[in-house]
Amino acid sequence: MTPLTLIHRPRRNRRSAAIRALMAETHLSPAQLVWPVFIHDAADSVDIPSLPGIKRFTVSDLLRECETLRKLNVSAIALFPAVEPALKDADGREALNPDNLVNRAIRELKKHFPDLALIADVALDPYTTHGHDGLLGADGDVANDATVAALTVMARRQAEAGIDYVAPSDMMDGRVGAIRRALDADGHTSTGLIAYAAKFASAYYGPFRDAVGSHRQRGDYLDKRTYQLNPANAREAVRDALLDEAEGADALMVKPAGLYLDILAKLRAKTLLPLSAYQTSGEYAQIHAAADRGWLDLAAARDESLLAIKRAGADFILTYFAKSYAENYKS
Ligand code: PBG
Repeated sequence: MTPLTLIHRPRRNRRSAAIRALMAETHLSPAQLVWPVFIHDAADSVDIPSLPGIKRFTVSDLLRECETLRKLNVSAIALFPAVEPALKDADGREALNPDNLVNRAIRELKKHFPDLALIADVALDPYTTHGHDGLLGADGDVANDATVAALTVMARRQAEAGIDYVAPSDMMDGRVGAIRRALDADGHTSTGLIAYAAKFASAYYGPFRDAVGSHRQRGDYLDKRTYQLNPANAREAVRDALLDEAEGADALMVKPAGLYLDILAKLRAKTLLPLSAYQTSGEYAQIHAAADRGWLDLAAARDESLLAIKRAGADFILTYFAKSYAENYKS
């Protein structure tokens, strides 16, 4: 048949794997990934049923994992503790203990892997009996300024232990500036701060809350809507994130990632800071669950979900897939 008279045939640029590689706009390498890891103070590492392939590690098993991660070129891990119930109280005081599990782990990790970047969450939820990220006021809501005071102490202890980046994930107002000033006053001017800048009150944190044992009291999904962002709001998210930049954050984060690509793209246009995104436990779990049923191809869905986050504007990504992506990565 006579060919259409077309000047533009975009398919020419997709004809072969080699041509597609030349034309690729987005690249994601293991060096741009951060593996969130859970640690606990117990004899053995244990599986987390809602996070297939992820464990609550003992610190010694985590050291072994880090050996593998470095070989795979993953740049960083983000530490989360599963705190023994006996160490929890309403104020999350264990978070401020210089020798708590996270601070001990930071010291060990830095000793053995000085070139692996370490990120630690700053929020009280793994340490509070009620599971909220801060201290409760008389009205039952999380009290902003008292929480910020506690978080600055928590961050100072992590800095003393040798953390590379503290990452406040609490969404209190003014915490980035307060933490920055406290770290600088202690001489920790090189300790960085990655702000969970646009963190939404999402239904996609469930498996994480299982992992740290915070969470769904009496089966209810804990409501954090007085401090985390409304999923309906993009302008408010950008405004809140830019406040974190003004207060001295070294990098901004959007969380969850895959459902909030518009926020990533908008922020990318508004800030010159590095941008990260957190592919949450729920995003990871849903891909696994569908793959288990044979409804999605695990590796293909994993790679596409991460590439989309990168394309939308993330410089680096926190993802439970970090290790498996790196294991399967062909440069
Ligand atoms: C808590 C925190 C949460 C996550 C990271 N830090 C949960 C929450 O806000 O309830 C979620 C991570 C994930 O779902 O993978 N400050």
